[in-house]
Amino acid sequence: MEIYSRIAGTGSYLPETILTNDELAQRVDTSDEWITDRVGIKRRHVIAEHETTSSMAHLASQAALQASGCHPQDIDLILVATCTPERMFPSTACLLQAHLGIERNITAFDVSAACAGFLYALEVADKFIKAGTVKTALVVGSEALTRMVDWTDRRTCVLFGDGAGAVVLQAAPTPGINCIQTYAQGAQQDILYLPNDKAAPALCSDNAYIVMQGREVFKFAVNAMGQAAETILADCRMNKSDIDWLVPHQANLRIIKSLAKKLDMPLEKVILTIEDQGNTSAASIPLALDAGIKRGQIQRGQNLLLEAIGGGMAWGSAIVTY
Ligand code: ACO
Repeated sequence: MEIYSRIAGTGSYLPETILTNDELAQRVDTSDEWITDRVGIKRRHVIAEHETTSSMAHLASQAALQASGCHPQDIDLILVATCTPERMFPSTACLLQAHLGIERNITAFDVSAACAGFLYALEVADKFIKAGTVKTALVVGSEALTRMVDWTDRRTCVLFGDGAGAVVLQAAPTPGINCIQTYAQGAQQDILYLPNDKAAPALCSDNAYIVMQGREVFKFAVNAMGQAAETILADCRMNKSDIDWLVPHQANLRIIKSLAKKLDMPLEKVILTIEDQGNTSAASIPLALDAGIKRGQIQRGQNLLLEAIGGGMAWGSAIVTY
């Protein structure tokens, strides 16, 4: 009998502190109107000094475990998608294993694919489960991006927020994850990156903050995500009308709108968190999934199209029956 994977439960964590556009406008030359019109963000959560990427991942994971009815000791595999680990090693996944008190010798590692990291991690977890080596996997996206932006650079500091989202993925007799496709184009590495001032000091002209050519990223994102959506629908032999909800990476409302238009989906069928959360990179899809479920929008048995893109450029899509 073939084994598939399905989402057993989701959870999220958002730091308490909220930073509004108006507050940001007191720090840099920007305005609520510019950020709302160009990006669709109104406010974002900011990690507290005592918090870390792994502490946020822990709180999101506890919520996902509770929603799934699983115990931490059921977990065979932990994957954390992040580009903001508090330690370069051990992985955030190992730190999360310790936070959860899992003493068993399980597999735990991080996945680095910037904003597409959660989809990459979901694909890896799905394949572990389909191979029969893992029954229950914890797949997490957790990011502390507000620690990686130059707070004097209005082109980037208005875009990002912090948080964590988690999914418990379990072996099942029928498909939950129907199809996942991931892509990368390393030749595009310079349009969006985060330098590492310790590993490559010679490559850091200034401090190690996020560098982005916004317009180039925007154009690439619209094309790549549109193409990826068409490809996955064709490969899954599904029509646009078979998709109940679009759950996109939340980087820019204009990018999301253009994708929804391409899919003939009204915005009412798109899970949106960007207004309140900003771009939380690898955490954005699991946060949106959890929000859609908690709001009562996403129901069991419905088909979801997940789409993400980020630094790499790395991108991907998934069709999931919840
Ligand atoms: N407030 C006011 N004005 C601003 C701001 C700001 N916060 N930021 C830029 N501007 C100005 C610029 O200086 C420029 O002014 P000028 O014409 O006088 O030079 C003008 O606005 C237009 O700047 P652009 O960068 O061309 O603005 P654009 O419409 O492209 O919007 C944005 C910028 C929002 C960044 C957009 O390009 C975008 O969303 N890009 C994609 C980002 C993305 O998808 N990232 C995904 C992955 S993130 C990751 O992987 C970690």
